[in-house]
Amino acid sequence: MLNKRGFLCILLLMVSCGQPTMLPDAHEPTDRMIPKSTMMIKPTITPELFRPLIHFTPQKAWINDPNGMVYYDGEYHLFYQYHPDSTVWGPMHWGHAVSRDLVNWEHLPIALYPDENGTIFSGSAVIDWHNTAGFGEEAMIAIFTHDKQPRQSQSIAYSLDKGRTWTKYEGNPVLPPPSGIRNFRDPKVFWYGTQEAGYWVMVLAVGQTTLFYRSADLKAWQSMSGFGLTEGAQCGIWETPDLFELPVAGTNETRWVLTLGINNCAPAGGSGTQYFVGHFDGERFTNENDKETVLWADYGADFYAAQSFSDSPDGRRIWMAWMSNWDYATTTPPETWRGAMSIPRELGLAKTADGIRLTQQPVAELQSKLMAETEVASTVLTDDGSITIESSAEAQLINATFTILPESSRFGIRVHVGDGQSATVGYSRKERVLFTSRSEAGVTDFNEKFTTGHIASLEADVIQLQIIVDGSAVEVFANDGTLVMTERIFTTTGSRDIEIFADGGRIQLDSAQLYEIAP
Ligand code: FRU
Repeated sequence: MLNKRGFLCILLLMVSCGQPTMLPDAHEPTDRMIPKSTMMIKPTITPELFRPLIHFTPQKAWINDPNGMVYYDGEYHLFYQYHPDSTVWGPMHWGHAVSRDLVNWEHLPIALYPDENGTIFSGSAVIDWHNTAGFGEEAMIAIFTHDKQPRQSQSIAYSLDKGRTWTKYEGNPVLPPPSGIRNFRDPKVFWYGTQEAGYWVMVLAVGQTTLFYRSADLKAWQSMSGFGLTEGAQCGIWETPDLFELPVAGTNETRWVLTLGINNCAPAGGSGTQYFVGHFDGERFTNENDKETVLWADYGADFYAAQSFSDSPDGRRIWMAWMSNWDYATTTPPETWRGAMSIPRELGLAKTADGIRLTQQPVAELQSKLMAETEVASTVLTDDGSITIESSAEAQLINATFTILPESSRFGIRVHVGDGQSATVGYSRKERVLFTSRSEAGVTDFNEKFTTGHIASLEADVIQLQIIVDGSAVEVFANDGTLVMTERIFTTTGSRDIEIFADGGRIQLDSAQLYEIAP
């Protein structure tokens, strides 16, 4: 039997699978429409209307941070902050899912439940390849925060069956807080150095700093150093750190990147993801930029508590984040499930005029899921001209490249366009900023901060956008992933039409493609 999605897919296949659909070229008037079909299915507003297809979401109840991300034996493990009894934050558990291709996720039973030491806050996971902890060959070990007022301490648990069942270590907690410190959490652990001479390193968020510890066995931890006092953005508490080494593209160099959630004052308001670039010598992280330099991984509102996978194959560094914002997370629609994870993104470093900066791209696995291409030929859009592409694809990938002309003003792409609703990703030539707007994007009244526009400086004459649109998730990767904006939107029309627009002036659209992503 065909479900609604299957039916939509067949409609789409009839129109644009196989040969790409080509749009008319530059000589035609600029208000154009590429139809999909005369049949439209009007949705009813149910919680499922907002559910993305390829972004991870819980079947029910509340989620926040990704946790325990580790690759083992063909599976990417995603654990996550989970409150199974409610759609708002509460006593935290670790939920669990696995994926073989980073696109399709399989839900598994809850991995870690609260116990006498407290509820289970964020943390990471490693494979103990050399049985340093003595729990067994290739044990998967979770290192997490036990939260029990008034203390937060670090604990461990292990699994000998690929994360399916877990045993908590009887000696928990393994790292209690120094006296008087309340915020002491979110351990990210990795192996540093060679197999023989190496050791485990833990980075912890502590107030508005990070502390570094080392251990031979994941049980006894020794303090090494701290980083962060007066560095970067200090206007909110630091949470969920990560630390990893990356190659700098086009060079033989590497740098270490320290990333952090900061729970206030991010560029789009509320919580966001800050990072530092520098060096780590096994004991100490040093920032290679001025203390005052503040670097943001994402300029949208909904990318928080990012964490990278341990042991990803091929040396790739892949991370995901919670797609929400503590400013309004507990009030967003829908009301039966709440929270989503971003698309897994591959990280890199690029040398720019300002210094070495983080780049992010959707993982390559997504490319093999693309179908039903619609292509727009090169054209100039003038005088508020637009091109509408009708689409029924639940999950979409849009590529568009614009070359700015002397007369260019504002231009970009609207998604979920229909019945007066849409969300906008655009560029303003005057201000030299990429912007997003969700003030027309359906349900917005659950929090007054939700509709503030978001901007990010982008000095370029060619603006290249890659946008993933999937249910209530929108992720924008501009100019080779050097600038990223992640947003949730809650339109209610079910429309997946897109519109490429010029808002006054003239803009050269070099090319655009719309693909359906079929998981
Ligand atoms: C970040 C965070 C973490 C904490 C967890 C609790 O969103 O506040 O610092 O461990 O959420 O759910």
